[in-house]
Amino acid sequence: MKPIGKVLCVAVLIAGLIDFFWKDPFNPESLSGARVLLTGASAGIGEQMAYHYARFGAEIVLTARREAVLQKVMEKCLTLGAKKIFYIPADMSSPSEPEKVVQFAVQKLGGLDYLVLNHIGLTRFQMWAGDVEYTRWLMQVNFFSYVSLATAALPTLEKNTGSLVVVSSLTGKVPTPFTTSYSATKFALDGFFTSLRHELIMQKRNVSVTLCILGLIDTETALENTRGKVYLTASPAAGAALAIIQGGATRAQEIFYPWWLQPVCCLWVLFPYSRNQVLQSYYNYSSP
Ligand SMILES: NC(=O)c1ccc[n+]([C@@H]2O[C@H](COP(=O)([O-])OP(=O)(O)OC[C@H]3O[C@@H](n4cnc5c(N)ncnc54)[C@H](OP(=O)(O)O)[C@@H]3O)[C@@H](O)[C@H]2O)c1
Repeated sequence: MKPIGKVLCVAVLIAGLIDFFWKDPFNPESLSGARVLLTGASAGIGEQMAYHYARFGAEIVLTARREAVLQKVMEKCLTLGAKKIFYIPADMSSPSEPEKVVQFAVQKLGGLDYLVLNHIGLTRFQMWAGDVEYTRWLMQVNFFSYVSLATAALPTLEKNTGSLVVVSSLTGKVPTPFTTSYSATKFALDGFFTSLRHELIMQKRNVSVTLCILGLIDTETALENTRGKVYLTASPAAGAALAIIQGGATRAQEIFYPWWLQPVCCLWVLFPYSRNQVLQSYYNYSSP
């Protein structure tokens, strides 16, 4: 047998052994009747998460700004098997909304097992043009509202040994061009929620914190934003949604989707000197 053939045989054998011994810790039944508050649920990855939770038989509260769209997502969730479902329209740029949303969910579901923080404000995929006010606004929507929602939900999550699931991005680990303000909000999430996880463990408070690091996903807004600017293939939103849900259900500290983002983040830390050349080869920019 040729050397390449031997290498292939060994690789197949190893893959087979991993497949045989690997026990997927995710138990879909654990989500039947689970009480979930899901933000950014009217579109994109959040909408796909709503459908997965519904198929698993969860009890769900959906939130986003557009009431008519939430109503449609809710109706589809009912046909897919959601045990209970409600929605509450809310704009997370308003500092008073997060607490109201958590109160509504706790009242409707009688408590919470999962808080899934997923919404984002309108994202500009462009060079920094000096708009400080926009950055302040985006910080409110993408970061401060997450902190307020988590703070309001912590007592009920603690009572139910629940989980906080925070949707972040590769740009919250690796700053890329055209994402100054967005990347800042995602780095802030990483800092805050990783520190919070340490504190909860130190205090033996049994609430897990799962940070979800996503690459480019094929949602309408992401594809529209990056068209002609990025040489990357987008991964499917339904797959990202399932990976997030599984990460939360298994109480993982971090999940990466697609999986190869994890080695990318490690290489980023290990090889600081060639970062600019590597990154810029994935972006299209011609000076005006
Ligand atoms: N798609 C990607 O390539 C990608 C990559 C990395 C990470 N992520 C992360 O994945 C998550 C979901 O992204 P996505 O692409 O699915 O986003 P999306 O399709 O743009 O959906 C955003 C959701 O947030 C809601 N929303 C927008 N502004 C809001 C506000 N002011 N208050 C409350 N809700 C608001 C939207 O609904 P309404 O308009 O009805 O309010 C919608 O439900 C985000 O955290 C994002 O950072 C996405």
